Amino acid sequence: MAFPIITAEEAASYIQDGTTVGLSGFTAPGVPKVVPEVVANNALKEHEAGRPFKIDLFTGASTGPHVDGILAENNALRRRSPYQNQPNLRKRINSHDCNYFDLHLSELAQKLRYGFYGDIDIAVIEVQDIDDDGNAVLGLGVGNVPTFAKMAKKVIIEHNKHLSPKLRGMHDIYLPQDPPCRREIPIFKVSDRAGSPLLHIDPSKIIGVVETDAPEGVKAFSAPDDTTLQIGANVCHFLAEELHAGRIPSSFLPLQSGVGNVANAVLYGLAENLDIPPFEMYSEVLQDAVADLLMKGRCKFASASSLTVTDPVVEQIFDNIDFFRERIILRPSEISNNPEVIRRLGVIAMNTALEADIFGNINSTHVTGVRMMNGIGGSGDFTRNAYISIFSCPSITKEGLISNIVPMVSHVDHTEHSVDVLITEQGIADLRGLDPVQRANCIIDNCAHPMYKELLRDYLKLSRRGGQTPHNLHASLGFHTAFIENGDMRTVDWSKYE
Ligand code: COA
Repeated sequence: MAFPIITAEEAASYIQDGTTVGLSGFTAPGVPKVVPEVVANNALKEHEAGRPFKIDLFTGASTGPHVDGILAENNALRRRSPYQNQPNLRKRINSHDCNYFDLHLSELAQKLRYGFYGDIDIAVIEVQDIDDDGNAVLGLGVGNVPTFAKMAKKVIIEHNKHLSPKLRGMHDIYLPQDPPCRREIPIFKVSDRAGSPLLHIDPSKIIGVVETDAPEGVKAFSAPDDTTLQIGANVCHFLAEELHAGRIPSSFLPLQSGVGNVANAVLYGLAENLDIPPFEMYSEVLQDAVADLLMKGRCKFASASSLTVTDPVVEQIFDNIDFFRERIILRPSEISNNPEVIRRLGVIAMNTALEADIFGNINSTHVTGVRMMNGIGGSGDFTRNAYISIFSCPSITKEGLISNIVPMVSHVDHTEHSVDVLITEQGIADLRGLDPVQRANCIIDNCAHPMYKELLRDYLKLSRRGGQTPHNLHASLGFHTAFIENGDMRTVDWSKYE
C-alpha cells in the first residue's frame, strides 16, 4: 500500500474543534470503526481542560454506539445530519446541545455539492482494500462516501481486515452530475449497474491508513410478536389482493422496506406468504430478514446502500459470498433512494409511522410532536415517489396508553397526499381515491384499536362544523394533551370542546 500506515490517534489529530467531517457507511455498516471514538476521547480531554471541542458530522444515515453514541456522550457534536438513532444523541438533540437537521437521505449529497452546508474538511472512509491509485473496495455500507471523497480536503482511510476480499464487485458507485448538466440515472431495472465497483479517492488527499479488524456489531431486532406478525400478514394480504386485481403486474414490483421492528416483521411475513411471487428489493437497508429471503429464493435481487445485518448473518454472507454477490448491489444512498429511479421502477414503499391521523397524515419522527426520535430517513424519498405507498404501525402503544391513530398528528412528515394505504394489526385502510371524511371513517373502521374507535368517532362528530377536512382545532390535539396530563390518551374529555 502506497499510503502511510498511521495510528487512530495520529488520524484523529487532524480533527479539531470546528472541523467538518464526513464518514463513510450507512447505518453501522461501512462506518469507520476506531477514529471517531478517539475523536470523542479527545473531546472529553479538551472539555476537561476547559477548551471547546465540537465537530460537525455528516454521514449516510445512522451510525452506532461507537460513533454517534460516544460522540454524543462526550458532547462532541455541534451539527449533525441527516439521520441518527442513538439514545445519547437523541438526548443531546432534544436539549439543543447538538444542532440536528433532519433531512431526506437522498438529498444530503447533492445539497453538500451545491454548497448549501459549507465545506467538508476531512472524510474518514472504511475500505476493504485500496490500491496505490486510490481505487477502493468499500465495506458493507456506502452512504454518501462518493460525495465526501470528492469534496473533502483530506481523507483518512480505515482499512478493515475483517471484511471479505470477495466483496469486490458488490458495489456500484455512481455520482450524478449536478444541474444543469444532470442526465438520467441509467438504472432501468433493480439489477442494473450505473457506475464502478470501485470508489476512486484522489491519492494526493489521503493522509494515511489506519488498520482495523472489527465486525459491524449490528443489533438484532426484537423477535416479531403477535402484533407485528399480524401487521406483516395484513401487508402481505393487501399486496396479494392488489396482484390478484391486476393493479400490480403479475411479475410483481420492487419492494422497499423501512427500518425497525415492524419493518422486519413485514419482511418475515413476505417470506412465508406464497401468494406473493418471488420479488426484488430496491431499498436503502437490507436487514437480516433479506438474507433469509435471498437464500430461500423468495427475494431474487436486492439493491440498497447497506447490509445492515447482525454479525452471524455477515458471516453467513461472507461464507456464501459468490451467491450473495450475484444478488446484491450496494449503492450510494443518493442512488438507492433516488426519486427518479424509485418512480421509474415502480417501487412499492412500506414504511413505519409513530402515529397516523384519521385523515392519513403521518408522523414518523416526533414523539408527542416535540421530541425527536430518529429522523425521517429515507421514508420520504420512497413514499413520495412510490407506485403504492404503505404505512404501518401498531394501533396502540404502551398497552393502550397511546393510540397510534389520532385525530391530528402532532408533527407531519408525510402528508395525506403521499399516503395510499395505512395498515395496523387491526386491518387495512385503503385510502386511494377517498375524500378526507371517507378516509377518516375508513381509518377508524379498519385501523384504530377497538378501545379508541368511539373516541375517534366522537371527535369526528365534534368536528363536523364544515370544511373539507373537518377538524375542531381546539380539540385536535386532545389525545396528546390527555397523554401529557394523565399519561393515558383514553382520558380525553371531548365535552370540554363542545
Ligand atoms: N408515541 C410515543 N411513543 C411511541 C409511539 C407514539 N405514537 N409509537 C411508538 N412509540 C415508541 C414505542 O413504544 C417504542 O418505544 P420503546 O423503545 O421505549 O419501546 C419506540 O417508539 C419504537 O417503536 P416500535 O413500535 O418498536 O417501532 P419501530 O422499531 O418499528 O420504529 C419508527 C418505528 C417510526 C421509530 C422507525 O421506523 C423510524 O425511525 N422511522 C423513520 C425513518 C424511516 O422510516 N426510515 C426508513 C426509510 S427506508
